[in-house]
Amino acid sequence: MSTKLICIVGVTGNQGGSVAQRFLADPTYRVRGITRDPSSAAAQKLASQGVEVVAGNLDDVASLIPLLRGANLIFSVTNYWEPFFRPDARAKAQELGVDCRRYAYDVELQQGKNIVDAAAATVDSLADNGFVASTLSHAGKCSKGAFKELYHFDSKADVFPYYVEEKYPELAKKMSYVQTGYFTSSYKLAPEAYLGKQPDGSFQMSFPTSATKPIPHLAVNEDTGNFVYAVSQMPPGKHYLAAGAICSWSEFMRVWGEVTKQVAVFKQVSIDDFIALQQDRWFGVEAGDMFAYSSEPGYDGGDESLLKAEDIRKVMHVMDERDG
Ligand SMILES: NC(=O)c1ccc[n+]([C@@H]2O[C@H](COP(=O)([O-])OP(=O)(O)OC[C@H]3O[C@@H](n4cnc5c(N)ncnc54)[C@H](OP(=O)(O)O)[C@@H]3O)[C@@H](O)[C@H]2O)c1
Repeated sequence: MSTKLICIVGVTGNQGGSVAQRFLADPTYRVRGITRDPSSAAAQKLASQGVEVVAGNLDDVASLIPLLRGANLIFSVTNYWEPFFRPDARAKAQELGVDCRRYAYDVELQQGKNIVDAAAATVDSLADNGFVASTLSHAGKCSKGAFKELYHFDSKADVFPYYVEEKYPELAKKMSYVQTGYFTSSYKLAPEAYLGKQPDGSFQMSFPTSATKPIPHLAVNEDTGNFVYAVSQMPPGKHYLAAGAICSWSEFMRVWGEVTKQVAVFKQVSIDDFIALQQDRWFGVEAGDMFAYSSEPGYDGGDESLLKAEDIRKVMHVMDERDG
């Protein structure tokens, strides 16, 4: 019987869609998903699967409050790249005299705060571990100021956890934070840098990351839901890294070459060389900083206390043993 309500922000996207599929498979949950456009193909498909699809906009906190009301569990994700790439957002950034990286930071930051403000209005209905937020490490803080403009990391971390902790201590007690690894599907965003075809027919990955630094990789559509579902059963107040594999980019390319039977190598390049491979220069600057940050202090900010899948498995195992 469906007794618990999960509300999913970003339900029509990669992360939120994966979370929806996992919770639909648990009959003790009702799944509600927020979208700007309930008539879109993605929203209609979810509705046909049993998701209660509701209209709301992350830019408008008043629209979110009634949609989150009564939730036992919330999952949220915000999307830096839409206000980064959209032509009208680029025009708006220009009008305001800020670059598009900073503009998208401001939009994502405000959307995150709006989600939190709306969640705080229903804090009493939330379970003890009742809000799982997708986020990333804080590049400015973790690099001790070396990366002051890794906007799509800090726009998430400035809210999850810092805004929540500062503004809503009661909500903070019910939160879990999931940092998501590099999506294995992200090669589509930067095909030349991920899998650049060389004149001899081989493939070269060209990033400004150390060839040996361990990197978290996530099959976002397949694994986010399972990870978040497991996190929701853990005690609150913890920080996680969602990754199906943690290996260097050179190891990643070795495996890719083996599986596809292609000659494939990884080469560490300068940020400028990485930018030159991108169609959109600003994307090159933002992503170039991310790949450099992934070397030092690391994609996870060098935080070794982040819990991973194996830590959850250990706890689950103890619970299974205890429950017979
Ligand atoms: N690519 C990577 O390797 C990687 C790795 C780690 C983290 N990330 C982060 O992942 C995030 C994107 O996650 P994703 O891939 O799951 O997103 P996605 O597939 O692009 O989906 C975005 C979701 O957000 C919703 N949304 C966007 N703006 C909205 C608004 N104003 N009001 C209501 N809903 C809104 C969209 O809903 P509707 O369009 O239906 O309204 C959609 O469900 C980015 O911030 C990125 O930095 C990416």
